[in-house]
Amino acid sequence: MSQEHWKSKIGFILAAAGSAIGLGAIWKFPYIAGTGGGGAFFLIFLLFTVILGAPLLIGEFIIGRRTKLDAVSAYQKIAPGSFWTVIGRLGVVTCFILLSFYSVIGGWIIIYLFEAIRGSLDGLSQDGYGTLFNDIIANPGPTLFAQFLFMLIAILVVAKGVQKGIEVTSKIMMPALFLLFLVLVIRSVSLDGSMEGIKFLLVPDFSKLTSESVLFALGQAFFTLSVGVSVMVTYASYLPKTQHLPQAAFSIIIINIFVALLAGLAIFPGVFSFGLEPDAGPVLIFAVLPAVFSNMQFGTLFFIIFLLLFLFAALTSAFSMLEIFVAATTKKDNTKRTKRSWQLGMLIFLVGIPSCLSYGVLSDFLLFDKTIFDLFDYTVSNILMPLGALLISLFIPLRMSKSMLYEEMALGSNVGKVFFHIWYYVLKYVTPIAIIIVFLDVLGLWDFIFDLFS
Ligand code: PHE
Repeated sequence: MSQEHWKSKIGFILAAAGSAIGLGAIWKFPYIAGTGGGGAFFLIFLLFTVILGAPLLIGEFIIGRRTKLDAVSAYQKIAPGSFWTVIGRLGVVTCFILLSFYSVIGGWIIIYLFEAIRGSLDGLSQDGYGTLFNDIIANPGPTLFAQFLFMLIAILVVAKGVQKGIEVTSKIMMPALFLLFLVLVIRSVSLDGSMEGIKFLLVPDFSKLTSESVLFALGQAFFTLSVGVSVMVTYASYLPKTQHLPQAAFSIIIINIFVALLAGLAIFPGVFSFGLEPDAGPVLIFAVLPAVFSNMQFGTLFFIIFLLLFLFAALTSAFSMLEIFVAATTKKDNTKRTKRSWQLGMLIFLVGIPSCLSYGVLSDFLLFDKTIFDLFDYTVSNILMPLGALLISLFIPLRMSKSMLYEEMALGSNVGKVFFHIWYYVLKYVTPIAIIIVFLDVLGLWDFIFDLFS
């Protein structure tokens, strides 16, 4: 049985950053920051990313490289037959649901790309972009076809394998994305009235925060780092012992925060300058960006390149969601890789169909007051991912010895005991307590307890 592995250290960092950076930072962050209070939301998101996300990311890397196993087998090896093996399975199931609606947005990008190339986005009025987009996503034929195409690309790349497929593509796409974002931000902040948007993103107004938006910030921190679902366990299992794990984790976190910041800076100045509302929801980026690019020299060309990179960013995340599943069900037996990628990819596409139709024929079909798309998104982002993160933060200190953890962290790195201890105790106490507090807050239990004693 041939074992996959990353070819280079930077290849791994870019692939892991590729998993992290995707729709979360570029599409979701601006719109939930827009709904959830702008600057205050951004600040809480930053705090959660650094204090809770970073230790978990390092933790997942350690589990993966230590065991060299897929997400399900890794926990089985460390804690055989125990309750904890549920973590790997939960991660795989979460990624399955996640990819089923993630591919819907992937499809939207493909359609927009097609429309931009055709020239149908040129010269519309500001309202025109919003209306056009809503019409596009309500049309089942093209959206389903585009979603299918998105899954098809993911399948083809994952079937090719870790090194030849995922690593090679990430190495080209990630740096290109970065550069283009810079162009976009420069354009956006030079729009008339852009200051309003920059302030909205960077100046916190805590009165706008609600317990729900704090939960969203927590979910978003895990979502954008791809932690809590053992994707990073899987990616780290292909690592050599020479990789500096904390350094890799911090590089990914910094790139990730930077991209979210760039996305915010690209979008909010446009929103305010064109007199739009920042809480437009999932359509925000699609309604605002064409307007930012229009009236700009070579605007259409830039927009096409941007959409291509946006698509790549979404794809590199999709690769990781499919990879965790393929690795777990083939037990990393490469001879089964191609067949399994196809079977799983197609199944995920089928499960994703109702999410796609949520913006069209199924828009009135509500469960728990949400469309199927929103329900899947809410469950994954705000329940399953924080829950997975909570379980991992309990699992590591309870089931892995401190000496083993230190040994693994120190391999390939020069981290001292002090860093290790900070990491260990934050993961052991701060992470689980913070997650529990946020959960209880959303359930209204804090208010209940206060009422009880007042
Ligand atoms: N981090 C990805 C994004 O921001 C989403 C993701 C979550 C990918 C979990 C893999 C696992 O788009």
